[in-house]
Amino acid sequence: MVSHFGELNICRLPLDPRQTLLAFDQGDLLALDYIHEQKLLQPHSRVLLVNEPFAAVTCGLTEAVKTLTGGVPTLWSDSHIALQALAYNAQHNDLPLADFVPAHETPQGAFDLVVLKLPKSHRLLKDQVARLLPQLAAGTTIIMPVMVKHLDTPLFQLLESLLGPLTTSLARKKARLVLAEKGEVGGGESPPAQTQRWSVEGLGLTLDHYSGVFSSTRLDPGAQVLLENFPDGSYQHIIDLGCGNGVQAIMAAKKWPQSQVVGVDESFMAVASATSNALANGVGPQCRFITNDCLTDMGPQSADLILCNPPFHQERVVGDQIAMRMFAQAAQVLVADGELWVVGNRHLGYHAKLKRWFKRVQQIGSHPKFVVLKARL
Ligand SMILES: C[S@@+](CC[C@H](N)C(=O)[O-])C[C@H]1O[C@@H](n2cnc3c(N)ncnc32)[C@H](O)[C@@H]1O
Repeated sequence: MVSHFGELNICRLPLDPRQTLLAFDQGDLLALDYIHEQKLLQPHSRVLLVNEPFAAVTCGLTEAVKTLTGGVPTLWSDSHIALQALAYNAQHNDLPLADFVPAHETPQGAFDLVVLKLPKSHRLLKDQVARLLPQLAAGTTIIMPVMVKHLDTPLFQLLESLLGPLTTSLARKKARLVLAEKGEVGGGESPPAQTQRWSVEGLGLTLDHYSGVFSSTRLDPGAQVLLENFPDGSYQHIIDLGCGNGVQAIMAAKKWPQSQVVGVDESFMAVASATSNALANGVGPQCRFITNDCLTDMGPQSADLILCNPPFHQERVVGDQIAMRMFAQAAQVLVADGELWVVGNRHLGYHAKLKRWFKRVQQIGSHPKFVVLKARL
């Protein structure tokens, strides 16, 4: 990645030699150039980067921030992979490690330069901006790099309603900057992270969601189909892979009270939500929730049941790469006679794909849109 701040080798994680996507986009480069041209980094600067997937701009600015201010930038993100990418890219470019704050916590300012990558979820955006504003110093510049195709009128209007008058840069290579100046001193007291509470009809559960958590106002239809076709064996060590709000983990803990259940998600907000949901629904001691990229570094042959409602996109990038990694790693983590239960849209063809790692794949139940598959080694 070449910018006015130097040349860095910035990688996407997980590392994959077949990967063709870059770890940064034209919006990131535009933001770095703008910071340089406008001389926005000053000896007193405190710099906050928000929602950067692979810490490219964070690393791009780290050396200059360190030299000018003696401090490091702060990355605020909901992603475990972003945290790993920050560590990897800092280490491989000999940079000091920037601070990291997970999205359900609030970074403490006062910050006077912010680069905000807009999340796909407007609920998360509103929550982050509400907590961010009190942490800004007077005159802070908020730089929002966007790809032009993602900047529609409703998004622009939402940003104006949250941040007041905006300006935009000229577009360059299909990217543009949306800019806001915040004039007031925020006072330092942010509201708590927003949560949404709802009851799951028929299951007797109440679930709380932080703003970035998948399906935050109702049960996901895929989740519902998996719950309707729950396994009926007996299991001791259960994993809910991509646990989100923890609904599968909680129902598994209730169905198999002797079991230990581990929920894994790459979202800090998901893990925080699932942890409090398990407690609130009476299965806290039986469940443990951790952030991780799929099942990385989890013990081989350590689970006899893995439940999985896999993601089909990573932010705006749609695809089954994450699901494929989940299936491959599940095959390593299951005991010899263990079972992976997957729910997915029919058209995704998971049945054939699972056969790369599992000898026996069986369709369980039937639904017009979804299939539930049981895979064994
Ligand atoms: C379709 S949602 C399922 C959520 C929940 N299990 C349910 O059934 O409602 C998929 C979940 O996978 C998580 N996820 C995405 N990428 C992941 C990764 N690399 N490792 C672990 N979890 C991931 C997402 O954050 C999301 O919560």
